[in-house]
Amino acid sequence: MANSFHLPVLTKEILNYLNLKKGGVYIDCTLGGGGHSKAILEKIYPHGLLIGIDQDIEAIETAKEELKSYIDKVKLVKGNFKNLEEILSDLKTETVSGIIFDLGVSFHQLKEKERGFSFKEDSHLDMRMDLNQEFNADILINSYSEKDLAEIFEKYGEERFSKRIARLIVIERKKKTFTTTKQLADLIIKTLPRTKKRHTWRIHPATRVFQAIRIEVNQELKALEKGLNQAIRVLEDKGRICVISYHSLEDRIVKHLFKEAEREGKEQKNYGLKIVTKKPIRPSLEEVRDNPKARSAKLRVAEKIMFTTI
Ligand SMILES: C[S@@+](CC[C@H](N)C(=O)[O-])C[C@H]1O[C@@H](n2cnc3c(N)ncnc32)[C@H](O)[C@@H]1O
Repeated sequence: MANSFHLPVLTKEILNYLNLKKGGVYIDCTLGGGGHSKAILEKIYPHGLLIGIDQDIEAIETAKEELKSYIDKVKLVKGNFKNLEEILSDLKTETVSGIIFDLGVSFHQLKEKERGFSFKEDSHLDMRMDLNQEFNADILINSYSEKDLAEIFEKYGEERFSKRIARLIVIERKKKTFTTTKQLADLIIKTLPRTKKRHTWRIHPATRVFQAIRIEVNQELKALEKGLNQAIRVLEDKGRICVISYHSLEDRIVKHLFKEAEREGKEQKNYGLKIVTKKPIRPSLEEVRDNPKARSAKLRVAEKIMFTTI
């Protein structure tokens, strides 16, 4: 199931919770290397259909190869899941039996130097998931005001030193434009109070700021809200939605939207979501040992139901 592009997380749990059925149509909104999609196809093939979406063309190309033995039951779309309903309408599909979101970036995006996601590699400040998009991390760092930078670092990175880092970026960029990940990571280390400068940190000091920039460049949280709302609408009766998130900002949105959809369904005696996982499912110790990147994953699952019937 694994390929060097990405090692899928919580796969057994996803298969279990999706309640796969013969002839069902499933959407993988975050195709990546096709790991989760392949696991689904192994269960449903030769019946049903798998629609895979990713905004990264490199993911689409890798998944095409990974899923080639099932190709007559696969439709791959390069697109953003924030346009889910439009994508489905283009495919002449109205409702689906199950949907998965495995948020964030793939290992491939993180480790490919040129993609500019990682402070561990020195590369151009990029961080775009969609390579056709013009706006990237370089433009953000060199053009946002000090106030906007601080706000993003605070809001999307929950960074304690957001104001201090933003101030220093604005001072430094007057002398030299920021172009590389190392330039930015080194500056972030420089902003640390002296006691924190020694290399005793638990996570690299640039982690939070890089997360914040990535979220802003790709408008990740807005896309998540839009995508989830549309996903709820296109699910068929008793269809399930599974979302794996990797940080608290994403998880909060998923938890809140699921609860809202449950409340609305109950109040209006109409379709809504029944929350299947009261608490998020975490990877087993064994999975984390084999794949340490899985350690922050949280899976939430909900089922679309008609509230008048219970
Ligand atoms: C964690 S990886 C998914 C890995 C996949 N589950 C697998 O098994 O290989 C997340 C993927 O979602 C894609 N992605 C993130 N946000 C997206 C969005 N709004 N629309 C479409 N794709 C998105 C990324 O480009 C990345 O390839």
